[in-house]
Amino acid sequence: MQPDSGVILSSVADGAVLMARLSVSGFEIHKGYLSADAQARLVKDVRQIVRAAPLVQPITPRGKRMSVQMTAAGRYGWITDRQGYRYATEHPSGTPWPDIPVSIMAIWQALSGSERAPECCLVNFYGEGARMGLHQDKDEASFDWPVLSVSLGDDGLFRMGGTDRSDKTQSIWLQSGDVVVMGGAARRAFHGVDRIRFGSSTVLPKGGRLNLTLRVVT
Ligand code: SIN
Ligand code: MN
Repeated sequence: MQPDSGVILSSVADGAVLMARLSVSGFEIHKGYLSADAQARLVKDVRQIVRAAPLVQPITPRGKRMSVQMTAAGRYGWITDRQGYRYATEHPSGTPWPDIPVSIMAIWQALSGSERAPECCLVNFYGEGARMGLHQDKDEASFDWPVLSVSLGDDGLFRMGGTDRSDKTQSIWLQSGDVVVMGGAARRAFHGVDRIRFGSSTVLPKGGRLNLTLRVVT
């Protein structure tokens, strides 16, 4: 990460795990926020989501297949196909999305500072070689509420910019157990994942990276 606005606000050693809170251009990064037990519980809960609403590898409106696989929990899921990017109340197979697990809601309650509850937990799975291009989250009705992101499994190189695509960017490796809150100015900032370090974590035994993003949709 480039030293810039990336100030360390606080850091504390919790057993062997170092927790630190960084702020980079308005992105609040809670390094090491989740314990190993909490991560294992979340992985178990995500597996339940995936059982009810299987991962799909969607295509963009322009017909390009995304490299990440996706599903969701909550009243809405974010989907993309030839018809466009949007929130939908049903999985592409036609079934409603499962509820957002309590373990995931608890992170929102602890860190979002939001009065509204999330209506979508988007689940992104990055297998070997998967990435996500620089984008803004802008399909929600309001930008007043933050988007909260939870990383599990392999390390992912997270790129953060400003509200213009051409703004300078800074990058940080997100690791399993890290939580990022994108609120305020960062809520409309460009961000993406350049690459993952496949096999860098044992949290997902077959490798890969899971990212959960909690969003208020309506
Ligand atoms: C996203 O922007 O939807 C995903 C971010 C991430 O994978 O860290
Ligand atoms: Mn996003």
